[in-house]
Amino acid sequence: MQSKRVLTGITTSGTPHLGNYAGAIRPAIQASTQPGVDAFFFLADYHALVKCDDPARVAQSRLQIAATWLAAGLDAERVTFYRQSDIAEIPELCWMLTCITAKGLMNRAHAYKAAVDANLARGEEPDDGVNMGLFSYPILMAADILMFNAHSVPVGRDQIQHLEMARDIAQRFNHMYGQGRELFVAPQVQIDSQVATLPGLDGRKMSKSYNNTIPLFEGGATALQAAIAQIVTDSRAPGEPKQAEGSALLTIYQAFATREQTQDFQDALTQGMGWGQAKQELYALIEAQLAPLRARYFELMARPQQIEDILQAGAAKARAETIPFMQILRAAVGLRPATSAAAPVATGQEAAAGAAGRGQTGKSTRARLVSFKDEDGLFRQRLLGGAGQQLLLSEGFGDPKVLNSLGRSFATIDLSRLPVDAQGYVALQADGLCWARVPQDQLAAVAAALASL
Ligand code: TRP
Repeated sequence: MQSKRVLTGITTSGTPHLGNYAGAIRPAIQASTQPGVDAFFFLADYHALVKCDDPARVAQSRLQIAATWLAAGLDAERVTFYRQSDIAEIPELCWMLTCITAKGLMNRAHAYKAAVDANLARGEEPDDGVNMGLFSYPILMAADILMFNAHSVPVGRDQIQHLEMARDIAQRFNHMYGQGRELFVAPQVQIDSQVATLPGLDGRKMSKSYNNTIPLFEGGATALQAAIAQIVTDSRAPGEPKQAEGSALLTIYQAFATREQTQDFQDALTQGMGWGQAKQELYALIEAQLAPLRARYFELMARPQQIEDILQAGAAKARAETIPFMQILRAAVGLRPATSAAAPVATGQEAAAGAAGRGQTGKSTRARLVSFKDEDGLFRQRLLGGAGQQLLLSEGFGDPKVLNSLGRSFATIDLSRLPVDAQGYVALQADGLCWARVPQDQLAAVAAALASL
């Protein structure tokens, strides 16, 4: 089955709150357990630098958010879980994208426009306090997404415009450098209407910037209960019927309750349950669900080495994709080995040249195996000789991991012992899977390149 790539990130500039959990983390983990979903979840720590210049806070937040994902049930074996800043290819791609993104597009970004409007309203210079990170924030976000060719990006409504920009940028890059090939998948925004946007203590969207959050784990059960006690309500006394619909209390309750529980809660309020008791019930409901997660969270926070190991393993998994993909992208924009400066790498023309055995024989650069996603949606590998000429194009595979390990396995096999078929081809097969078919007269070049990888 062709799997669907889902990717999302959380900016590591604060301590996770109940809204992050119900609105992002919980549904993302839930989605990652579905068959056919290949999930990428990451800590957007480069994004944190845009708005937070407190190093201790950024460092602490990275730890807390990592521990939160893991405590909430993320399976790091199944999903690819990493820190943005551990993937050097992301800022590299960000620069490539920066160079093809119109400044005018960034002028229209909501976050930047809001900053300018606020400045103008205060009689300040329009760009007062605006750094280039804030201005080009959507380009870094596009790099996060396009680097992994994600199909679907679950985010809150405030991120829709960023996703549209990522699509724009992907299309522009494909058009400029793809030579008819889709180097990047144009990502789809995924807004799940089932997923709750939690109101905060004051009834506005729960957000660090409004200072109206309910802490998720930090501060323990006491802090949770104390915050819930502060949720605004109207001043109706116990015994008076309450207008529960639309109240922050009910909306938060709903995010943790079954439909029946919510109905009962709402009926009780309509019949006069006091707000104090309602808060008590809300606390009991949430605490029952969070207590076991909180215990795991504090266990993890006490073992930062364990978190570090998980993130390092995640980075290695992610880079198994980004390193070869970056080779394709570098070649596409013209950052090529000196020996193949004139010849576009990994294109149709080159394939023809390679097949005819007319590739250059520069020995200064090494052979490379590059993976990419083809127009048919399948992953393939090209084996490129030292001069960048194509020596082999693999069969298509739905799962890039299968392809990668299959390809690597031929480096240590003696290819000259493999049988030649009636058409003069040698099938490179292992574990019942055919990686590629190679004309017999190319076999020696392929074997040499594979051995030198
Ligand atoms: N900008 C997102 C936010 O503030 C975080 C983020 C960074 C992100 N890169 C991303 C989300 C890529 C989805 C995909 O919520």
